[in-house]
Amino acid sequence: MSLIQMETAATDQLTEAVRTILPALENFLHHEGADPAARQSTRWKAVLNQPLPEQGAGLTQVLQTLAETVIPNGLRNGAPGFSGWITTAPTTSGTAAALAATVAGSQRWWEQPFNYLETVALRWLAELLEIPRDMQGTFTSGGAIANLIALGAARQRACERFGHDPARNGMPSFLRWRIYASSEVHHVVVRAAAVLGLGRDAVAKLPADSQHRMHLDHLYTVLELDRAKGVFPLAIVANAGTVNTGAVDPIAPMAEIAAAYNTWLHVDGAYGLFGKLDARVAALYRGLERADSITVDPHKWLAAPVGCGAVFVRDRALLERAFTLEPATYLEGAASRGEVESPFDHFGELYHNFNVEQSAPSRGVLVWAILQEIGAEGMRARVVRHNSFARHLAARVMADDHLELLAMPTLSICAFRYYAPHLEESVLDQLNQEIARRLRAEGKFVPSTTKVAGKFALRPCYVNPRTTLAEVDGLAGRVREIGDELLEASLKTMKIAA
Ligand SMILES: Cc1ncc(COP(=O)(O)O)c(C=O)c1O
Repeated sequence: MSLIQMETAATDQLTEAVRTILPALENFLHHEGADPAARQSTRWKAVLNQPLPEQGAGLTQVLQTLAETVIPNGLRNGAPGFSGWITTAPTTSGTAAALAATVAGSQRWWEQPFNYLETVALRWLAELLEIPRDMQGTFTSGGAIANLIALGAARQRACERFGHDPARNGMPSFLRWRIYASSEVHHVVVRAAAVLGLGRDAVAKLPADSQHRMHLDHLYTVLELDRAKGVFPLAIVANAGTVNTGAVDPIAPMAEIAAAYNTWLHVDGAYGLFGKLDARVAALYRGLERADSITVDPHKWLAAPVGCGAVFVRDRALLERAFTLEPATYLEGAASRGEVESPFDHFGELYHNFNVEQSAPSRGVLVWAILQEIGAEGMRARVVRHNSFARHLAARVMADDHLELLAMPTLSICAFRYYAPHLEESVLDQLNQEIARRLRAEGKFVPSTTKVAGKFALRPCYVNPRTTLAEVDGLAGRVREIGDELLEASLKTMKIAA
């Protein structure tokens, strides 16, 4: 038998393949009926849990399983009533761009439009969000890596001040460092400190103020105490939209403090930077222009397909020193400039030198497609609408004796709970946990949960373009109904017990 056999993977028939699964995808997007994924998991797992096939089943079989088993049981975070996460399902232009990138731009390298669109999309994002134009942007897989890169650049600068290159020599053992953030900081920042060799304990999480923002007095006090102990400030992290309540830290005074202590200011706006498009809250972002690095995730509020974050760093050369891949013989031509005859002569903008990835998908095309479709105006309208949803819900909660607002919305998050005056805190927590469980099981209105000042909270976050006011009201109404039912049932039980 010849060792050279024909390839068995189809490399054509794309139209036919897409046509085959398209009805299932369209159907999925209607989000009809109860979410089958969890309750029918025994069934679909049985179909999928097969041994590695020795002989491939062929494309037709793959498409059939996708259409019949995988897609119908997919993730419904794009359903209009889903407000649980800060990521959502992509809109149509982003989906089409993702398909285009998979087929025609499977890498962001080379002199070709997908590489160029990384640059265009980063410029558009910067312009939209008033990120200083001289900052170097790079797309990442999400906020976790974006924050890691920002803090990697901060580490580089801090160490270089002591004549040390951490990218080449690792962290110097003779220095102690600290990163300062509020208790509301996203936990990916703490992990970034671990990955960067600073250690998780290097992140000082300072108690936030009553509105869940960085408490400036605490920040100042801890910086002073550390200075006295010889601990160096590596960075201060400002949240521009916390994951729990959407609070925006006082960026301008934090920038002042960072300057006074000669340290780096990073703004984590993975979720909330888009919030500044709402004129009602834009002033909260004052000082952004002084940041050394800024994170913003298109796969959150912009509804780009997941896997699309971004980070901007003021000092391009520093970012490159921290993350360069350095030349390699197999990358012949990568840095050449001038006359270009083939893509090999010019690799386009070398984003792998600003990042921790080498091979990476094209992400700029996703952002470009969405902004090209809806424009700055469309995005502004979305942000204002979503922030208004949170305010509307807060007003409704405040008008209802059996609902309690736990944090006044800043952006599009509204943390609240079912409430009854005679119940102890622990009982209220249990009651609201049960409400959250029921909401998830019903699948029509699905918020996530968190704790606000120790109290268990229902936490809808509006970033989903498919959500309408009907779902916002629907959630409030259903929380009230479920809470009333649970309360009545528990009162009956207590009476019977008495
Ligand atoms: C403020 C903030 N930072 C960072 C992240 C992490 O982003 P990702 O999940 O894209 O890695 C999130 C996620 O919700 C976030 O809200």
